[in-house]
Amino acid sequence: MRIVVTGGAGDLGSRVVREVTARGHQAVSASRRSGVDLTTGAGLDGVLTDADAVVHCADDTSRGDDVTVYATRRLADAAAAHGTHLVHISIVGIDDHPLSYYRRKLRAEQGIAAAGGPASVLRATQFHSLTAFFARSLTVGPFAVTIGDMALQPVDTDFVAQRLVDLALGPMPTAYARATDVAGPEVVAITEVARLVRTHRGASAPRTVRLPPVGRLMRAVSESRTVPAAGSADLGGRTFADWLAAQPPRLSGR
Ligand SMILES: NC(=O)c1ccc[n+]([C@@H]2O[C@H](COP(=O)([O-])OP(=O)(O)OC[C@H]3O[C@@H](n4cnc5c(N)ncnc54)[C@H](OP(=O)(O)O)[C@@H]3O)[C@@H](O)[C@H]2O)c1
Repeated sequence: MRIVVTGGAGDLGSRVVREVTARGHQAVSASRRSGVDLTTGAGLDGVLTDADAVVHCADDTSRGDDVTVYATRRLADAAAAHGTHLVHISIVGIDDHPLSYYRRKLRAEQGIAAAGGPASVLRATQFHSLTAFFARSLTVGPFAVTIGDMALQPVDTDFVAQRLVDLALGPMPTAYARATDVAGPEVVAITEVARLVRTHRGASAPRTVRLPPVGRLMRAVSESRTVPAAGSADLGGRTFADWLAAQPPRLSGR
């Protein structure tokens, strides 16, 4: 099969490209560096011609609605016009979350549904790399900040890529369909993530500073709304600790 991967050079997209190829199918990366710009539509029709599915991993969180919402809708309309199966990556727990990026991701899903073509939407929890970034951002010197009992159920990006490829190579739905959410094997408090990350680079365990949840956003974070309800998600991939053990002592990026 011929599988187009938007954002195929990005963190998730590159893993999807690898997985498609490893399973003996053709992966075609589509992003600005390969001449496809989803915000203008340049190159889009050409790359979708003869595609069996398109896995949408392109995004740019720095551009507000432009890529997350509008470019996704543009892609969904184009995929629907071509009769191509659109496989979209979204985030667990965005139905009632005040974080602006999560609201955009919800509008992206709604745009895909409105486009009316065959689409599979997979919601995943935070990737291990992003979870480590959160913990580093919340660690100041020897202190790790938590909001209430903030916890996550982080997931291995490779596991998410495998599920996206399962969907892309699987049967095409007749319309918009939500796949079963995916998450990592365990729930971890952000203070435990901070401890693991700091001790991973040889520093002492941080002391916890607990902030009370003030306002809608902090309340949502403290309620760990991105952790899937028990039994509602497929769990798999490496634990955060196992993933961390394979990383260099000093983490960088997201
Ligand atoms: N990180 C997490 O914890 C997490 C959890 C759940 C879901 N997700 C979802 O996973 C997806 C991928 O995240 P990621 O971290 O892998 O992203 P990433 O590494 O930042 O890669 C995004 C890619 O999008 C491409 N891109 C940006 N603007 C574009 C445009 N206008 N047209 C075409 N391509 C464009 C970029 O390639 P060029 O520069 O070549 O255009 C880039 O390689 C996102 O939708 C995110 O919401 C992430």
